Amino acid sequence: MNIILLGPPGAGKGTQAQRLEQGYGLKQISTGDMLRAEMAAGTPLGLNVKSIVESGSFVPDPVMIDLIKSRTLQSDCAHGFILDGFPRTESQAEALDTMLAARSMKIDAVLLLEVDAEQIVGRLAQRRAPDGTRRADDEPDTVRHRIQVYRDQTAPILPYYENAGRLIRIDGMQSMDAVHDAIVAALKLGTTTPAR
Ligand code: AP5
Repeated sequence: MNIILLGPPGAGKGTQAQRLEQGYGLKQISTGDMLRAEMAAGTPLGLNVKSIVESGSFVPDPVMIDLIKSRTLQSDCAHGFILDGFPRTESQAEALDTMLAARSMKIDAVLLLEVDAEQIVGRLAQRRAPDGTRRADDEPDTVRHRIQVYRDQTAPILPYYENAGRLIRIDGMQSMDAVHDAIVAALKLGTTTPAR
């Protein structure tokens, strides 16, 4: 099963993707984590995108499409994957469908985690990495910019999936456990870890 997790910043995409990966063997592909790893390693890509990511704007589509093309080909995606943070623009959504069709693959479900802006700013103000540090893009002004970028560039792709009958809306304002249960029910995954 291949899944897309959509939603504004701080909606819980990463949290829920990790739980699905642990419970169901679907590989989480987080484009934000991939970019931050490149930045931490100081690679040419990381150096190129650092200021964009830290400002809360979007990295150009061709960069992101190349990144996701190579990642979904890796063997750890054989049982399926969860896209966390991709696609985020109309070009990315179209490129993804084209890329998967060329491999006789498809997206089985698109989950939209719905959370309001006030809740997002509150959540991200409190978020800390395990070492206690804060993400540069979690500053309240940058979070507000990220929410606006989401509204301008990502929200317009929702009809693309909704009109194709692929969009499932999930109330992301509930507790993490309740959101997870709603996703499991929507995807009809059952409660046990499948054999690999
Ligand atoms: P990315 O890392 O993907 O950031 P994001 O989408 O803004 O998502 P977040 O990681 O902030 O939030 P989340 O929805 O994963 O929530 P989480 O589970 O962490 O991207 C960062 C940047 O990279 C972008 O701004 C852009 O520059 C670039 N980029 C990435 N992909 C790109 C693309 N495709 N195209 C162009 N540029 C791209 O939860 C957040 C917090 O809330 C946590 O503290 C968590 O514990 C808490 N929480 C989670 N669920 C709940 C709940 N139900 N109740 C209470 N608290 C909760």
